Amino acid sequence: MLSKEADVGLWVFGYGSIIWRPDFPHTIALWATAVGWSRRFWQGSHDHRGTPELPGRVLTLVPFPGESCKGRVFGIAPNNVDRVLGELDYREKNGYQRHTIPVQTAELGSVDALSYIALPDNTAWLGDAADDVIANQIRDSHGPSGSNKDYAISLYRALQREGIHDEHIQTIAELVV
Ligand code: SIN
Repeated sequence: MLSKEADVGLWVFGYGSIIWRPDFPHTIALWATAVGWSRRFWQGSHDHRGTPELPGRVLTLVPFPGESCKGRVFGIAPNNVDRVLGELDYREKNGYQRHTIPVQTAELGSVDALSYIALPDNTAWLGDAADDVIANQIRDSHGPSGSNKDYAISLYRALQREGIHDEHIQTIAELVV
């Protein structure tokens, strides 16, 4: 039987690349909704999907009352928590910080999950821009983890496969192709 506690020492909520490439051991993965948040390509990336000269744009969660963001919540076994946190702290190091937020699942109700969120006060922050400006930057940027375009399209496809509509992601994905 599915329970919140079974074999889970930590829940991690992913809304960007963590959805389609978690790359860490987990005992369970569920679709989940972060109410009052929306994802935006407002965080700069000069270490993964861009360079210091041409930073890419990656996702962060932004508080938007009345909106919500569908992502994936992963349950980490207690004996893997330290290792997974170490790996995620390194992966999300360019401006992201750990935050614990409630996310809603169909199977388990509300779950408190750790999420890596970049806030406007970090040095890599880019913030809002016109859709075509965001899309052009994504189309032109490449970094050690690959092209920024692949980052955007991979998420778009992962959401599409689940029938999840995200206006911002769809708009940018259609502009970059
Ligand atoms: C996440 O996926 O939850 C964080 C942002 C990213 O790595 O794309």
